[in-house]
Amino acid sequence: MEVFHSKSPGETLDIASSFAASLKRNEIVALVGELGSGKTQFVKGICRHFKVREQVSSPTFVMLHRYDGLDAFQKEILLYHFDLYKVKSPAEVFDLGYEEFFRGNGICMIEWAELLGELMPFSRTEIRLSFGADERERRIEVDRSRRVSPGGALA
Ligand SMILES: Nc1ncnc2c1ncn2[C@@H]1O[C@H](COP(=O)(O)OP(=O)(O)OP(=O)(O)O)[C@@H](O)[C@H]1O
Ligand SMILES: [Mg+2]
Repeated sequence: MEVFHSKSPGETLDIASSFAASLKRNEIVALVGELGSGKTQFVKGICRHFKVREQVSSPTFVMLHRYDGLDAFQKEILLYHFDLYKVKSPAEVFDLGYEEFFRGNGICMIEWAELLGELMPFSRTEIRLSFGADERERRIEVDRSRRVSPGGALA
């Protein structure tokens, strides 16, 4: 597991953006951390790497946002941004037709991923954010231990 210490919102953007360089199509990024810990900020950094032009914000009233990005080869890539904060049961996510997004060909980022319960996909990278001593400090854990590479082996 990798651990980063961010000292500002801008640094979190940078950490997330360099993390995103390792992401491949079909990957799921599960973001876990308290209110205001920086999940959306991290999503913004991933989106910056993929050259998303739309405004990235927490999908408060809709559970899902979709952004158009470009990969390293300037090929279009879709980024799905879930925020499950208001979700009362995994059934709501199921009803959304979640498989289309989770098994799609894009990058799927899920805030409050722990609320997925039994729908939590096995293969995922977990990003765990927590507060530091200072108001602008964040500890960011990047856990790739559950990431299954396209070949099937754990990467
Ligand atoms: N080092 C830092 N990294 C990230 N955000 C920071 C940092 N320092 C301060 N902040 C501030 O903390 C807030 C993080 O908000 P953000 O919306 O990213 O959190 P969140 O985890 O998505 O919250 P929510 O659970 O409400 O969706 C922002 O206002 C940001 O400016
Ligand atoms: Mg958020």
